[in-house]
Amino acid sequence: MSKVFNFSAGPAVLPPEVLKQAQADLVDYQGSGMSVMEMSHRGKVYSAIHEEAKANIRKLLGLTDDYEVLFIQGGASLQFAMIPMNFLGEDAVADYVNSGNWGGQAIKQAQLIGKVNIAADCAKDIPTRVPDEGELRWTKGAAYAHITTNETISGAQWNSIPKTDAPLVADMSSDILSRPITATDYAMIYAGVQKNLGPAGMALVVIRKDFAEKGNKNLPTMLKYSTFIEKDSLYNTPPCWTIYMLALTTRWLLDFGLDKMYKQNVEKAAKLYAAIDASSFYRGTAKKECRSDMNVTWRLPTEELEAQFCAEAAKAGLSGLKGHRSVGGIRASIYNAFPPEGIDALVAFMADFEKRFG
Ligand SMILES: Cc1ncc(COP(=O)(O)O)c(C=O)c1O
Repeated sequence: MSKVFNFSAGPAVLPPEVLKQAQADLVDYQGSGMSVMEMSHRGKVYSAIHEEAKANIRKLLGLTDDYEVLFIQGGASLQFAMIPMNFLGEDAVADYVNSGNWGGQAIKQAQLIGKVNIAADCAKDIPTRVPDEGELRWTKGAAYAHITTNETISGAQWNSIPKTDAPLVADMSSDILSRPITATDYAMIYAGVQKNLGPAGMALVVIRKDFAEKGNKNLPTMLKYSTFIEKDSLYNTPPCWTIYMLALTTRWLLDFGLDKMYKQNVEKAAKLYAAIDASSFYRGTAKKECRSDMNVTWRLPTEELEAQFCAEAAKAGLSGLKGHRSVGGIRASIYNAFPPEGIDALVAFMADFEKRFG
């Protein structure tokens, strides 16, 4: 089997155990005589998969019965629109933190629907960062406050969750289940699943029931959270295969242990940041206090060297290191399933590249 170390930002590396299980199940799922891709989403066999996927998320996030677990197509991007459509009424204001590209995308969609207060804006700052607690200007009585816990492109991550009186809504697309959280801090958590949870195809939405109940009732059926709650994410045909893969990935994470995964994630990222800091050739992009454990970003002295770095790395089996097209540079996305050996391989490659070009 030819495999590379896959540093892609998403879709991203999946655990080999999960891929092998999916391969074994692909044609004949557990003796059912058909693939998960072929079976009715209302049948008994698929129901068990759907239930496991939700139960695993509940266990991993430590959710109480006050929260619903939903699967909604359209990725995190549809959530940018659904959130204000459901919760930003005519006379209301929503607080948004603009911490980078993704926070900014969420803001753009909300501004199409209603009034937005930008509680802090550091989206264009270099070094890249998230705001300090003291910078945040919340609105009294805001309908909700929105943050992006990890800015995938800039590589800046919140290390503590800001305090606000408004219901807190968080885009966790690129750091969900990479570390333990206190779910009760949030009214809603959402994530495109194609980084830490499985292949692309939907968003995971975790929403507190009393918050969901405040949602606008006057929306098309597929745009209301209440539809997904009432119909158990089965109002229409769900992305069954993606949900099955999420069930396998979360089962793998439960077996590994979330605390152990967090420790491994911190160690992986620390090793890479140490290699960057030890060199004057490589320059980290994010402010130290805000460095992401999931997306490590850095620059080389010139764009030409960056292009050469990526090309040579790819030849050495280190794939997907090119920074996002909007910012350039280098980005190593090292989600849960990214193996520690891949960090060692990258650090060794970096040392060799610097020796030759530094
Ligand atoms: C933090 C964050 N939010 C939102 C998105 C958009 O997700 P999707 O492609 O699922 O719409 C991404 C995609 O990379 C992301 O990293």
